[in-house]
Amino acid sequence: MIRSAYAMSLAARVGGLPVKASWTYIDGMPGLNAQLDSWLLGALDTKAAASGERYRPAMALNTRPATAIGPGTTLTAEPVAASGRVIVYRETENNTLPNGTSSVTSQTVYADTNTGQVHRAADLLRPEALPRIHTLLSNTAGYNPKPLPNEAAPLDIVLDDQGALRITTAQTGTGNRPARTATATIPAQEAESALGEFGRNVLSQLRSHAPVELPPAATQAFRHVNCDIVPCAALTYDDGPDPRSTPRLLAILREKKVSATFFMLGIKAAANPAIARQVSNAGHAIGNHTYSHPNLTMLSAAGIMNEIGRAQASIQAATGPAPTFMRPPYGATNATVRQAVGLPLINWSVDSLDWQSRDPNVFVPKVLQEITPGAIVIMHDIHATTIAGQTWLITALQSQGYHLVNVPELFEGTPLVTGQTYRSRPQRW
Ligand code: NI
Repeated sequence: MIRSAYAMSLAARVGGLPVKASWTYIDGMPGLNAQLDSWLLGALDTKAAASGERYRPAMALNTRPATAIGPGTTLTAEPVAASGRVIVYRETENNTLPNGTSSVTSQTVYADTNTGQVHRAADLLRPEALPRIHTLLSNTAGYNPKPLPNEAAPLDIVLDDQGALRITTAQTGTGNRPARTATATIPAQEAESALGEFGRNVLSQLRSHAPVELPPAATQAFRHVNCDIVPCAALTYDDGPDPRSTPRLLAILREKKVSATFFMLGIKAAANPAIARQVSNAGHAIGNHTYSHPNLTMLSAAGIMNEIGRAQASIQAATGPAPTFMRPPYGATNATVRQAVGLPLINWSVDSLDWQSRDPNVFVPKVLQEITPGAIVIMHDIHATTIAGQTWLITALQSQGYHLVNVPELFEGTPLVTGQTYRSRPQRW
């Protein structure tokens, strides 16, 4: 229905109970994605707080989705309609407690693709129309939520393309009477006078059945993932691009749908511009790893700036954009380096030592042992043995629940500052 939409899922254990979530992000709609995230994170934090915990992405590691129906939570957020400049999203939370009590709550939000703003369902209605809506609801057979909501906020309202309002409220249930939602429909002729300006705009968009008008998506090397919700790690590959091994790595990353980060040497990018361009075109992020791999702490400020500047120029000549972050060779920094590089410095939290062992049977178990959510893993795409271990490593990480993201994606929400050194994504707590 919407190009540039992509599905996400999560299986976690929070407070001993399973939580399953599935939702859909839309590229180019950061406000909508942020609304989804705050809804998800709010639900996860509430679950965790109920058992005296704080939600951490680590709770979603090594977790299989629960198959049996039993206590737990299911969170679902999907677009239910999209036309012209409007995307309608429905967010539903199903809870079953160990004592058999269950509840269903839902809300519908309306995203304006023109302004990027996300509106609550209540924004559809004129405030003065609420008493009339409630009278209509209470007269609807079968619609008997107790108490009847006295304001629009708890109402989940879906406006359809004919102008009718489908209104849902939450119901709780017990073991033999499971939770259900109560739904009432207010026909278009009754609903018309209740719609405010925003509601009338949404209706005219839905009536048009036009293709969705989306703003341009973010740059190719960036896709929204919230690493406070799902466990993330960034695989990084240094010292290339290499004409033999880098294309083989790209094929593995494409097959496994992994976005990675390549810290390129300027001298290699200049020698292999087509490979550098392949990396960029595949949607991976590229960082500056200096021109010729010196230990920057041995250089003057002018020498450091020369190494960074020449690498920026050759990477930019090969790929188009200039890198916005760098990694110092050997991870070596000091005050002069931090001052002179003019970019954020990205080191690592997990050292594969792939260059030392040259053996997947050594470096893959080492990475799997040391990795935690938010980690940055250093490897080198210039060794055949490194490439030989990637399918194993990636398959193992993904089966544990890791989302393998690139450096800008890993740090989304925590802006990278020039001259600062980073080793992993800071966790919320
Ligand atoms: Ni290096």
